[in-house]
Amino acid sequence: AAKRPLAGRKVVVTAGGTVERLDPVRYITNDSSGKMGFAIAKAALDLGAEVTIIAGRTDVAPPLNWAGLTFTRVESAQDMYEAVNAVWADTDILVKAAAVADYRPKQAAEHKIKKSGDSMTLELVKNIDILETLGQKKKAQFLIGFAAETDHLEQHAMDKLRRKNCDLLVANDVTAEGAGFGADTNIVNVYDANGLVESIPRASKDEVGLHIMELAATRLTGESK
Ligand code: PMT
Repeated sequence: AAKRPLAGRKVVVTAGGTVERLDPVRYITNDSSGKMGFAIAKAALDLGAEVTIIAGRTDVAPPLNWAGLTFTRVESAQDMYEAVNAVWADTDILVKAAAVADYRPKQAAEHKIKKSGDSMTLELVKNIDILETLGQKKKAQFLIGFAAETDHLEQHAMDKLRRKNCDLLVANDVTAEGAGFGADTNIVNVYDANGLVESIPRASKDEVGLHIMELAATRLTGESK
């Protein structure tokens, strides 16, 4: 049992980047490959959990053959919110590794937008913040947020942790070599409400994922670490 500390637990992991449509063939997205989220899901499965991945656009193929995994593909931030919200009441641990667009085009045109004038202005409107919304209504759920930062890592991470009511926050400096979007490795600092819990030096995303889920399992079972 010690090796499967998440047995009987339901873990939901978001992965990849959201897709915010302009028209049927064009969209705004980001460089998230899905690797970090998928690695976390794998770690959670290895620790015995029942796992759901809710993924936006990814570069890597979905791990559809992993036993015990439910895989849901979504497109926009709004779709991702609805999919996460649908399983929320039955979630023990939510890990928000996805890179969610903060804004979307105000209108998604029904037909392909035609070329016209010499310039074109795109109006964007704010998306729902999935993590913040669920953080505010969290009951027994253990919430793990991510923060993709380019500067003032600790300050921004702690601000997100508090604002989004996370139990743990995993911060990566996405400008560092071997970290962040698309890389096979990551370099992260993990924070809780009291500050830095640990720094994980450059390691494969699988190793980072395992580390994070082991920490979550320890916290969830009430042992201190
Ligand atoms: O997919 P990979 O290529 O492996 O790359 C991994 C990663 C760099 C995408 C990952 O490690 C990471 O940092 N994910 C979070 C990216 C992000 O959107 O960070 P953020 O600082 O903008 O958002 C903070 C947190 O709020 C995140 O948990 C995010 O999922 C969540 N969020 C953000 C905006 C929004 N509208 N809703 C959200 O839930």
